[in-house]
Amino acid sequence: MTPPSSPAIPTFEQHFGRAPQVTASAPGRVNLLGEHTDYQGGFVLPTAIPQVTTVGLGANGTREHRVFAADLNEQSVFAVGENAQGGFARYVAGALALGGAPDGLDVHVTSNVPMGAGLSSSAALEVAVLRGLRDLGILDATDERLALIAQRVEHEFVGVQCGIMDQMASSVANSATMLLLDTRSLERWLLPLPAGAEVLVMDSGVPRHLAQSGYNERRAQVEEAARLLGVTELRDVRDPQSLEALPQPLRARARHVVSENGRVQAALADGGVDAARFGVLMNASHASLRDDYAVSHPRVDDLVALLQAHPNVFGARMTGAGFGGAVVALVRAGQAHAVALTVLAGYGPGGRQVVP
Ligand code: GLA
Repeated sequence: MTPPSSPAIPTFEQHFGRAPQVTASAPGRVNLLGEHTDYQGGFVLPTAIPQVTTVGLGANGTREHRVFAADLNEQSVFAVGENAQGGFARYVAGALALGGAPDGLDVHVTSNVPMGAGLSSSAALEVAVLRGLRDLGILDATDERLALIAQRVEHEFVGVQCGIMDQMASSVANSATMLLLDTRSLERWLLPLPAGAEVLVMDSGVPRHLAQSGYNERRAQVEEAARLLGVTELRDVRDPQSLEALPQPLRARARHVVSENGRVQAALADGGVDAARFGVLMNASHASLRDDYAVSHPRVDDLVALLQAHPNVFGARMTGAGFGGAVVALVRAGQAHAVALTVLAGYGPGGRQVVP
């Protein structure tokens, strides 16, 4: 519910003075298992979160795009085919350029996906804009190709050398299932969530300042590790013992990627997805991200520890790129809200429940 004091968010009509031609939405995602493996050919297990980004699009008859972020009350104007100056508009500029928008569009953006929390608000924005272009008949693309275009937006317009997980999750996942994605082949399966459990997402409130540089650095390190080991990607490591020959910190970084990929496979072994086993693997994933990949944060570790200590939690870990942001827990069905309240009381200011 909107608090009475907060100003109303202007609609497309109110801001641009006419109705949009199309509106399109796309969700954020939370990754349950398989972190920092999607740029080494690994398997990932995200699910969509209920929060979405919605865009309205309408031709404006000029050679400029006008992008209005209604929640921020910020507008950015840039030439067709060009990048925006900075901030959120770069995601839109990239999607419009790579999605083939030939003439000026007015774009209205609203979102309830938390920004900068590791829940893929950027992928949701890219995919929503590309879906809008598809609805306008400008872009002819499958959901998979749409995700690949969205990934290029990150690489070419934003400067983040991300993998494909977030854009694929936003494009093809839903919040009732988890998406098993082979990030090398893009083969994918929608699987039931572990029986008797539900997903709890909490924001640590720690802003992800170092995320972009830290992310690109980790990626370069594991690419170097793969090169030294003589494999195309760390997914191809057959003998974990071979990592011992690597110098630090490459050894630890590679150990995370290889062990994390093994955890996804272990979670799905024997056909069934058991909540207790899944939770143990989430806990191990967190330890590996904290100690070997060094992408956690002390406050995030605190929040994860509080969750892991709760009797109704099967497992908990940081999620997304790291360096702050959100954590995800697998919780006994029906208990998520109660768990969140207890954990927040122990965590102190800054934290909040995001899902459900
Ligand atoms: C970010 C990237 C993804 C993935 C995760 C870590 O969300 O965009 O491609 O690498 O970090 O798993």
